[in-house]
Amino acid sequence: AVPVPPMSIRFDQAAGTLSPEGPTLTRRMSDLEGLFRDHEAWEKAVADGDPVVYSVISSPVPEIDRELPQSITTIQPGTTGGELWMTKGHQHPNHQGEIYLGISGRGGLLMFDGTETRWVEMTPGTIGYMPPGWAHRSVNIGDEPYSFLAVYPGGAGHDYGWVLEHGMGLRALSGADGVELVDYVEG
Ligand code: F6R
Ligand code: ZN
Repeated sequence: AVPVPPMSIRFDQAAGTLSPEGPTLTRRMSDLEGLFRDHEAWEKAVADGDPVVYSVISSPVPEIDRELPQSITTIQPGTTGGELWMTKGHQHPNHQGEIYLGISGRGGLLMFDGTETRWVEMTPGTIGYMPPGWAHRSVNIGDEPYSFLAVYPGGAGHDYGWVLEHGMGLRALSGADGVELVDYVEG
């Protein structure tokens, strides 16, 4: 990763794109091993076409200490074993804060500090704030793609093992009147 000069980045809200664009990440069902409550349903979904669950496009600003990168995540609508499609979720190993701005669709921002859990509903225009030390996962709670902009310290890092080890406190299931939050039960 190399530093970039002062620049403007075009954020197309309707299209959910950044221009110029940096690296893009695509997460398929097979990339989400060990995260869904219903392991069999997850295996079946992997065998059954291994769908794209979410993608992350980045601005050219690199993930380097003291830089301020941005990215747009788009989570597809769907459920696996009744659990709403979601990001892997991570902790920033250096415990640094982050903001998300809802762009389109409806989502939830689940935060867990190892003891307490918080759930923030995200609609276009909502800024969700993650304080240092709160692991975070995003969930699509609607029936269209859910997109949000993330702005985070370049040196924050991503610890995915933390979530596999500690869980996220709650799980977001698809319920009769939308989202139903239930206690996290080991895989
Ligand atoms: C960066 C951040 C987001 C997520 C993205 C994908 O710190 O929180 O850009 O990285 O929403 O989620 P994960 O990284 O959990 O797969
Ligand atoms: Zn983060």
